[in-house]
Amino acid sequence: MTRKRVGILISGRGSNMSTLIEAARSPDYPAEIVGVLSNRAAAPGLATAAAEGIATASLAQSKFPTRDMFEDVMTQTLESWDVDIVCLAGFMRILGDDFVHHWAGRMINIHPSLLPLYKGLHTHERALADGARVHGCTVHFVTPGLDEGAAILQAEVPVLPGDTADSLAARVLIEEHRIYPEALRLLASGKIAAP
Ligand code: GRF
Repeated sequence: MTRKRVGILISGRGSNMSTLIEAARSPDYPAEIVGVLSNRAAAPGLATAAAEGIATASLAQSKFPTRDMFEDVMTQTLESWDVDIVCLAGFMRILGDDFVHHWAGRMINIHPSLLPLYKGLHTHERALADGARVHGCTVHFVTPGLDEGAAILQAEVPVLPGDTADSLAARVLIEEHRIYPEALRLLASGKIAAP
């Protein structure tokens, strides 16, 4: 089995990144994590990845004259790691069309809602404000429209009486950590492909 080489893009804590690293420790997992790139040098996930012996890089968009130039250097960095698949894991930047097209079919994201519900930010607050009974998370292919690509896996959680955005987020995060490694397994092993 040739393992697919995966680069992860983060902006912060990196708990989803950690679950992908953990899954890839298993020799029969079809992917290995070869690099982690952050747009924030202070992202705690960078230190976690470095401690695992994984290559890391941080690139501040503000240092580049345009978003396209920033994203070109992101692609160069990912290609210097020989990446086959890109996983967005709490990467808090909207990506431009050129970058998205370059990685089309090879880039996936975890989003904390049952897409197509609640695209964008503050998903837990919005689900609570709507009185939703069910909430959850989605792993999907990344396409130019924000949070619009085809879903690979979803998981539902109940919204419980007394839930706050934090308690609901914590319940959803448990499911994120379950489905993200599973979705990457499906893509890396060729069991699914972008439509
Ligand atoms: C997760 O809730 C993910 O769904 C969202 O941002 C959060 C990132 O958390 N896109 P972490 O950095 O993976 O801990």
